[in-house]
Amino acid sequence: MKSITRRNFVRSSMVAGATVAAGIAGSTASSRNPGQERKAKQIKIIGVCCSPRKGRTTAASLRVCLEAAKEVSPAIEVELIELAGMKIDGSLAAGLPLEPGERDDFPKLVPKLSDPAVAGIIVATPVYFSSMTSLCKAFLDRCITFWQNNLALSGKVAGVLAGCGTAILAVYTGWKPVPHGG
Ligand SMILES: Cc1cc2nc3c(=O)[nH]c(=O)nc-3n(C[C@H](O)[C@H](O)[C@H](O)COP(=O)(O)O)c2cc1C
Repeated sequence: MKSITRRNFVRSSMVAGATVAAGIAGSTASSRNPGQERKAKQIKIIGVCCSPRKGRTTAASLRVCLEAAKEVSPAIEVELIELAGMKIDGSLAAGLPLEPGERDDFPKLVPKLSDPAVAGIIVATPVYFSSMTSLCKAFLDRCITFWQNNLALSGKVAGVLAGCGTAILAVYTGWKPVPHGG
């Protein structure tokens, strides 16, 4: 029996997700434009990495997912967005203003995510105390803007990737999480 590693698991999950995203994007395009060939439609899958640590375990897992998505079809392009180092203040979602001189990086993500070419969005977070990171929660809270401003996220396929530090997984899969403080 083929052994299941974490890498195999995220790859095959992504292949399934990308196939669904490509299918939905293709059928939307052909219903809008019946004469258009499905294969001509270029679609994009974006991975949003919500680890505060750039390029570490969660980003590496997400990269595996996105590489797998690309293999589904040449019509699929991918982009990895790392929120590490970005300032995303969740309280702005509740209408609170920025303090003078405070930076907010969320607005630059809005056109990327609401781009009609984007058929799928994967939100990846490390597990922090059995939940998402505060960066991930702030990002998701700020996504209220898509609803408030009538910017289309509907019809896009969403995926979630959660990476944890459970030693047992690392032992059985050979996956090496990057230690904190390292
Ligand atoms: C504040 C904090 C809380 C964590 N809580 C959990 C947890 O509840 N369960 C778990 O398995 N790992 C937990 N971890 C470990 C991280 O999920 C794990 O190291 C993850 O791979 C880190 O992702 P990164 O390498 O992208 O930063 C925690 C780590 C931190 C810093």
